[in-house]
Amino acid sequence: MTSKVYHVKSSLFHCGVFHWGDERFGDDWPGSIPAQLVAHTLFYFTNPGDLVFDPMAGGCVVSDVCLVFERKCKSFDLATRDNRPEVRYHHWDPQEGHWPATRKPDLIFFDPPYYAKKEKEYKGMASEKTPSISSYPKGKYEEFFKSFFLLAHQNVKNTTRIAFLNADWRDFQSTPALKENPNNSITIFDYHRMLSQTGWEATHRIECPLSSERMTGNQVQKMQERRILGTVGRTLIIARRS
Ligand SMILES: C[S@@+](CC[C@H](N)C(=O)[O-])C[C@H]1O[C@@H](n2cnc3c(N)ncnc32)[C@H](O)[C@@H]1O
Repeated sequence: MTSKVYHVKSSLFHCGVFHWGDERFGDDWPGSIPAQLVAHTLFYFTNPGDLVFDPMAGGCVVSDVCLVFERKCKSFDLATRDNRPEVRYHHWDPQEGHWPATRKPDLIFFDPPYYAKKEKEYKGMASEKTPSISSYPKGKYEEFFKSFFLLAHQNVKNTTRIAFLNADWRDFQSTPALKENPNNSITIFDYHRMLSQTGWEATHRIECPLSSERMTGNQVQKMQERRILGTVGRTLIIARRS
């Protein structure tokens, strides 16, 4: 391994909070994730030469980190572009049930839209016939995951892991905590339930907190005054076939 690659690798491992915005990895993309988070996942759950499958690749942080860690990567998204020839067009449609690869992966790194978060941004990249799942109403969004997890289960090896990243969605934006309607929310507990129902067993839960400094003191104070309880984190669930 060249010393440059060693330096890049070790720079991805220096603390417990995953830093956002490492410009060496991935493109500027709505909802892109920290390279350190991908690096940790690859380090603990894959080996050099393994195949990683990224069904919703977005800004390609996963494929870039795979390159440094010498893992192979297959990337798909409904949004493709010339500067990222590694991303193959695929629209995941729960009705079609098509898995766009023959070689079975060792790890699926699945970072889908977090319900309606960034709905506008992803809508701009999609079309009416091939919508982003962030445009789905809650029931259809949940159905999507059940079908996806089932389809994945049918198309992987016995040893394949899935690393599934998501965040709690609650209607807290303008609602005091006591008045939130839980029927409008989708939380990590729901994703965990859907994984279990479709043949996956969670083995690890990795918390990925965002720095609270992302919110100004002013914002936090205003929310506190109205007893609005925000959320500053995502959770990575690692699961294996049960
Ligand atoms: C959270 S982003 C992925 C970000 C990526 N991990 C990164 O670091 O840049 C989710 C991606 O899912 C894609 N997407 C949403 N619905 C889709 C669908 N039905 N089929 C294929 N891609 C979809 C969006 O285009 C978006 O790029």
